[in-house]
Amino acid sequence: MTRKKFLAGNWKMQKTRAEASEFFQLFTKILGDLKNVTRVVDVAFGVPATLFDACSTNTAGSGVKILAQNVHFEKQGAFTGELSTGMLADAGLAGSIIGHSERRQYFAENDEAVGKKWNALALRGLLPVVCVGETKAEREQGKTNDVVTKQFEASFAHVSVEARANEFIVAYEPVWAIGTGLTATPEQAEDVHKMIRGLIDKHFGKERAESTRVLYGGSMNALNCAELLQKPNIDGGLIGGASLKPEDFSKMVQAALVAK
Ligand code: PGA
Repeated sequence: MTRKKFLAGNWKMQKTRAEASEFFQLFTKILGDLKNVTRVVDVAFGVPATLFDACSTNTAGSGVKILAQNVHFEKQGAFTGELSTGMLADAGLAGSIIGHSERRQYFAENDEAVGKKWNALALRGLLPVVCVGETKAEREQGKTNDVVTKQFEASFAHVSVEARANEFIVAYEPVWAIGTGLTATPEQAEDVHKMIRGLIDKHFGKERAESTRVLYGGSMNALNCAELLQKPNIDGGLIGGASLKPEDFSKMVQAALVAK
């Protein structure tokens, strides 16, 4: 089956509202009517909360999805500094990135928290973009598949039966490739993506395994994305550095538009 490609920018802790508006002006100028683009390829941006409004306004009616970069799993309460799924929905967001390696590394986000966030997003009708990936040492020790399997299954254990019925996306992001310029080769990425699709098959069945998008992330850019997107199990990308400039990111969208 052909899965619609999904290209998501991850702006991390970058851009002011004025810079976001500028980005979308140029992005639209290069790509033309974004509605025509998003009919063929899903385009999303994970942005800081201060930009939710500006990004939603700048992309209104285009089909571009705005995502958070994190969310709390509780519905509301005394959780200073956190945002709930209801708040994301209220802000017009499509979903959230969860379990990014920077959150795991610097903010002690573990598989259980990722699973609870996945559960809360899915129950609220929002899209969880679940990040998994091994460190350099883990790859060198041949543990990549074990690490990714554990991350997926230990999170999934906290997703209720009801929430499992809803769509999710997996982003395979080898930690050693993030922000380093060391992209996984298309073959390395394809191997892990295939394994992840097998995990989805095991827990969700064949149909869901075939329809669920698995994205690659880690130094994906305008030069290497076409080759990665050609692999049968790579359904798009989660892109950090190369999503900050409209000139670069629009080239990647163009590559996704023609990728089979
Ligand atoms: P990068 O980041 O493209 O800058 O490597 C990817 C990510 O962290 O999602």
